[in-house]
Amino acid sequence: MIHSLRQFALMVPDLEPGIEFYQALGLNMNERAPGLAVGFRCDGREHDEIILVKAGDSRKLHHISFGATPEGVGEIEARLTAAGVELLDKPAPDADDGLWFRDPEGVLVNVTPAAAYPDHVPGDFPLANRPGITPRKDERGIIPGKITGRPRKFGHMIVFAKDVMAKVKFYTELLGLKVSDYIEGGYAAFLHAPGDSDHHILAFLPSESPGFHHASFEMDSADHAAIGAKRLLEANGRQAWGPGRHGVGANYFHYFRDPWDGMAEYYWDMDFISGDKEWDVSDWTKKEGMFIWSADGMPPPDFGKNYEAEQWG
Ligand SMILES: [Fe+2]
Repeated sequence: MIHSLRQFALMVPDLEPGIEFYQALGLNMNERAPGLAVGFRCDGREHDEIILVKAGDSRKLHHISFGATPEGVGEIEARLTAAGVELLDKPAPDADDGLWFRDPEGVLVNVTPAAAYPDHVPGDFPLANRPGITPRKDERGIIPGKITGRPRKFGHMIVFAKDVMAKVKFYTELLGLKVSDYIEGGYAAFLHAPGDSDHHILAFLPSESPGFHHASFEMDSADHAAIGAKRLLEANGRQAWGPGRHGVGANYFHYFRDPWDGMAEYYWDMDFISGDKEWDVSDWTKKEGMFIWSADGMPPPDFGKNYEAEQWG
């Protein structure tokens, strides 16, 4: 069983702008191969959640990796083999172990045995009070210096798909992910892990080719997201959209353009789906699915543009 989205990798023409961007986003850099590949991870993580590989003259999605239970890797291997999906060698000696294969549109995917993300430690950040519901009693809500504005985890990504529903079929039937919600009957689709999971760990948007749309990082609170945004924008990060609230997943969002016109997102307070409960799949309109409110109104005109379409021929 897959329990988490673990990592994504991009091929990029130059590592330096990525190092600047992801460090300003609040991630830690891990030099994998000097001048050739660099990794990034949130505080407390023991694996690279992003890998940038210097290759080519334009950005291209290299792979998506999921963490699974050891038995889950075996079950997925059996389903892939039965479906005639070719298992590949890992793409580099330092790449993670596990299964490597291509999805129906040629995107390289890895499923690797891994520990699930640890729960957040209670007390790391103050609970939020609301009218009549005050889980934070006799305790100050703001402790100067405690709001780091640094992400907790790489939580989800959206990728482009030529055929959204064909992708849904592959990732649900063979990898075991589950549908959370659709936009406009399958124009876009959002998937979660089968155990306890954020509302989505992977989603598909239609395009003429595969490609990377955005990677999203969970924050402890709106304060953390706002302070992270301030740091990133002061470091010459580019505003893309937000802050606001999605309908799909209900999460607070704030998007920033990365150096190659992909995006990184801060999110918090996303819907959470228990492994032992049935989730009622909704079909959202584009408008309400995308946002209930946003501080800067409509998404930018190029929000759904696939900037790496040409790379896929
Ligand atoms: Fe997102």
